[in-house]
Amino acid sequence: MLTNNKNVLNWVDEMAALTKPDKIVWIDGSEEQLEELRNLSISIGEMERLNEEKLPGCLLHRTALNDVARVEGRTFICSREKENAGPTNNWEDPKVMYPKLRKLFDGCMKGRTMYVIPYCMGPIGSKLSKVGVELTDSTYVVLNMDIMTRMGADAFKQLGDESNDFVRGLHSKAQLDEENRYIVHFPEDNTIWSVNSGYGGNVLLGKKCFALRIASYQGWKEGWMAEHMLILGIENPQGEIKYISAAFPSACGKTNLAMLIPPKAYLEKGYKVWCVGDDIAWMRIGPDGRLWAINPENGFFGVAPGTNEKSNPNALASTRQGTIFTNVVHNLDDNTVWWEGLDKNPPKNAVNWKGEKWDCTDGSKGAHPNSRFTAPAKNCPCVSKEFDNPNGVPISAIVFGGRRAKTAPLVYQSRDWNHGVFVGSIMASETTAAATGAVGVVRRDPMAMLPFCGYHMGDYFAHWIEMGEKLGDKAPKIFNVNWFRTDDEGHFIWPGFGDNMRVLLWILARCEGKADAMETPIGYEPKPEDIDIEGLDIDLDTLKGLLDVDVDLWKEEAKGIHEFYAKFGDRLPEELKKQLATLEANLNK
Ligand code: GTP
Ligand code: MN
Ligand code: MN
Repeated sequence: MLTNNKNVLNWVDEMAALTKPDKIVWIDGSEEQLEELRNLSISIGEMERLNEEKLPGCLLHRTALNDVARVEGRTFICSREKENAGPTNNWEDPKVMYPKLRKLFDGCMKGRTMYVIPYCMGPIGSKLSKVGVELTDSTYVVLNMDIMTRMGADAFKQLGDESNDFVRGLHSKAQLDEENRYIVHFPEDNTIWSVNSGYGGNVLLGKKCFALRIASYQGWKEGWMAEHMLILGIENPQGEIKYISAAFPSACGKTNLAMLIPPKAYLEKGYKVWCVGDDIAWMRIGPDGRLWAINPENGFFGVAPGTNEKSNPNALASTRQGTIFTNVVHNLDDNTVWWEGLDKNPPKNAVNWKGEKWDCTDGSKGAHPNSRFTAPAKNCPCVSKEFDNPNGVPISAIVFGGRRAKTAPLVYQSRDWNHGVFVGSIMASETTAAATGAVGVVRRDPMAMLPFCGYHMGDYFAHWIEMGEKLGDKAPKIFNVNWFRTDDEGHFIWPGFGDNMRVLLWILARCEGKADAMETPIGYEPKPEDIDIEGLDIDLDTLKGLLDVDVDLWKEEAKGIHEFYAKFGDRLPEELKKQLATLEANLNK
């Protein structure tokens, strides 16, 4: 046992009495213990060790075929009152859900070992960090948690001997039975129960379950914010670094932006970009009154397909050692891994994500589209030197964004904080032809938190507004970007990726009062000549097109916002109703 904390010890006893493992192992985080677990995991066929020269310390894992993604339909927020989960979450009464899950957990670890994983979200020693304990019967979970969090004895030190402020996570693979798969959060009890899945997003309870769903609830109660945001630092040639956090829905480019490589001309001038986080930000008001952010995670759980030397060299470099690959192709010739979009040479002698011999010429995909790498942040060539800073980094700008083919311009700035909250609340992405066949179906995803907000979304908006009141004139400026405007043939107009730096620099210039702007019905926009397009394939007219606000489209948009807002009933803050009225008045001017 690694702790004398009675709250922890009693709870572990209680959960062991329920799940009845043969053995309980406390995870101290030592290299010896981890190596033992790796060998165990390999011996039971759960993992394979990859080429020690090309991919030192790397492992390969395949999930069950029916267990390859987060399951939003089976994800629940079980607050005591239904109204507190809100219209955007699945809800069940804890009085019903606990007994139902207890039945599934009863005796489910018989013949297995229960691992007790203490972990810290955020740097050890930081006041912004929080501790969780996950109980699991999966070595895969232990080995992934080691990469994704600060795992081991230090986490119990951070908790202390008396505190009861830790998140209680219980996970069992149980039967991997799809019908009885549940990812359930009890925010008022600091508790997460996950059963019948072995897939990362469902079982690495520190990530979406704790750091977003439970933490967003805690932030609401305690006066801080847990957000689905990347954090990056931009260093100018004088060596000053300014930090930006940005929320985009899943698969809209957070990991890419967080590890951006500036265009050559900017590198030559001395600009640098530093990655603090690629998925989650916890933000608090610091002693100086500004908003400070930490990345609660310690690694990247990234989508593998499409990651390559051109699209995201920093992410790829992060996966070259100490990484766990899930559901990718196994190249048997040199015992390495492959996925679609890595390079143009699929391996000939290979096993696909299902564990079958794979013929790359038969048209089937070798890697699952949601195959993943779990990579240590310290591997990233551009990881920020503030990564472990217990104080976090001060945020100058908050950026929202999504995939919009026509509506949203390349970039605009909100008129003030509350207008910025409005801009975040109406965030949306459109489905692409490739994905569904139906083009332009708008999916609202406020602040990119739709699947991750642990309480009523209307209360969440109100919390944002309240944070703005507390921050006053020290509040970060709020912007919206859209890298995904398309031409009539459906091609992206803006080059994106590294060139997004050009937009970020206008954003920072605005924060420092060094750039002008034009008023539009939706907010402030750059003067076209203030976005540097030198060296790009697009001319000033194209840029003007990218910044164009189509009043008719926006009138349609306003109707969609009305419909969306109607869901939240009387929990929708008055301020947001006013913002919508202002937008409509501006459009009708
Ligand atoms: P989660 O990790 O699931 O929260 O998603 P994410 O926001 O990190 O998304 P990710 O970076 O994995 O998704 C990136 C997808 O967007 C890939 O298909 C990229 O090719 C594409 N993408 C990223 N940045 C840009 C850009 O600037 N322009 C264009 N056109 N595509 C981009
Ligand atoms: Mn990502
Ligand atoms: Mn995410």
